[in-house]
Amino acid sequence: MTELKNDRFLRAMLRQPVDRTPVWMMRQAGRYLPEYRATRAQAGSFLDLCKNAELACEVTMQPLRRYPMDAAILFSDILTIPDALGLGLYFEEGEGPKFRKTVRSEADLAGLASFTAEDDLGYVMNAVSTIRKELNGEVPLIGFSGSPWTLATYMVEGGSSKDFANIKTMAYDKPELMHALLGLLADAVADYLSAQVRAGAQALQIFDTWGGALSAAGYKEFSLKYMQRIISRLPTEADGRRIPVIVFTKNGGQWLPVIADCGAQVVGVDWTTDIGAARSLVGDRVALQGNMDPSMLFASPTRIREEVATILESYGHGSGHVFNLGHGITPGVNPDNVTAFVDAVIELSPRYHQAD
Ligand code: CP3
Repeated sequence: MTELKNDRFLRAMLRQPVDRTPVWMMRQAGRYLPEYRATRAQAGSFLDLCKNAELACEVTMQPLRRYPMDAAILFSDILTIPDALGLGLYFEEGEGPKFRKTVRSEADLAGLASFTAEDDLGYVMNAVSTIRKELNGEVPLIGFSGSPWTLATYMVEGGSSKDFANIKTMAYDKPELMHALLGLLADAVADYLSAQVRAGAQALQIFDTWGGALSAAGYKEFSLKYMQRIISRLPTEADGRRIPVIVFTKNGGQWLPVIADCGAQVVGVDWTTDIGAARSLVGDRVALQGNMDPSMLFASPTRIREEVATILESYGHGSGHVFNLGHGITPGVNPDNVTAFVDAVIELSPRYHQAD
C-alpha cells in the first residue's frame, strides 16, 4: 500500500497532535461545481454516475483539484442499500429521491431482496478501490453509509418527508416491525461499511440525517442503538492503521453526551450547536467535526473568513477538531467562496495547535 502523505485528518479524528485543523466538506463533490455537472451529463444520470467507477472517481477528485482538502469522500449515495434491497430508487428532477416500492407491512419486509454488500453493491467497492488508487496516498478516503433510521425513513415514506408520518406510525404502533426493519438495515450497513474498508476506505462516516426528527427517547431506541451495533461490528484497523468512525446526527446537538458514548471516535455537529459548548459536553471522549452553516458560503469571502475564525476560537486550542460544514454544501454556492472557506481554515488554525 502507498504511504499516506497527509494524515492530518486521521490524526485529528484520534485527537493526536496536528500542525493545523484539517478540513473537508460534506457533499464536496456536487452540483455547485460546473465540472461535476459536465461529468453527470456525460454519465447520463446521477445513478449512472454512481455506478460507473471511473466517472465516480473523476467527480471524487474534482474538489481536490480545486481545493487543498485533507480528505476525499467516496462519490455515491446513502440510498444504494434500499435500492439493492429491491425498492427501485429513482430521482425526479427537483424532487429528490423516490422509491417505486415502500416498506409498510410484514409482507413488504419479507419481500425485500437478500443482501450481500460485495455481491449486490460491487459497483461501490469498484469505485472505492479505483479512487484509492487514483488518490495515490495524497489524502485519506472516507467511506460512508446512511444510518438504519435514516435509510428506513426513505424506505417507509417512499422518498423525502416533512413530517415522517408513516415511519413514526410504524415506530409507535408497530414497534416490532420497526425494529425488525432497523435490525435488517443494521446488518446490511455493517456489512457494507466493512466491505468498503476491505476495498480501501480509511475512515467511515454514518449519516444520520433524520435522527433529529425523533424524541430524545425515540432517538436512543430507533437510531443511536443501531449505529452503536454497527460500530461494534466494524473492523477497527486496516494496513496497521486505525479506521475512525464519524457519527453525524443532524439536529442531534442536545444528545451529544449520549452520542459520545456510541463507540464512534468522532461526532459530527450541525451549525445549530456552538462547537465550544459541544466540546465541553463531550470532554475528551471523542473528536468533533463541523460546523459552519452551509448557507454562510453565500456570504462574502470576508464574512466567511470571520465565521471560520469564530468557530476555531470557539473550539479552542488542541487537536480533536475536523473542520467541516454543519451539513452538505448547497448547489448554488459560488466555488470561489469555498476557496475562501478552506484558505481561512488553513491560515487561521495553526495557532490553535502550537505548544503553549
Ligand atoms: O459528500 C460527498 O461529496 C459524497 C457524496 C454524497 C452524495 N449523497 C451525493 C449526492 C453523500 C455523502 C450523500 C449522502 C446522502 N444522500 C444523504 C446524507 C447526507 C445528507 O445530505 O443529509 C442523504 C439524505 C442522501 C439522499 C439524497 N441523495 C438526497 C436527499 C439527494 C438530493 C436530491 C436533490 O435533487 O437535491 C440525493 C442526490 C445526490 N446525492 C446528489 C449528490 C451529489 C445530487 C444528485 C444530482 O447530481 O442531481
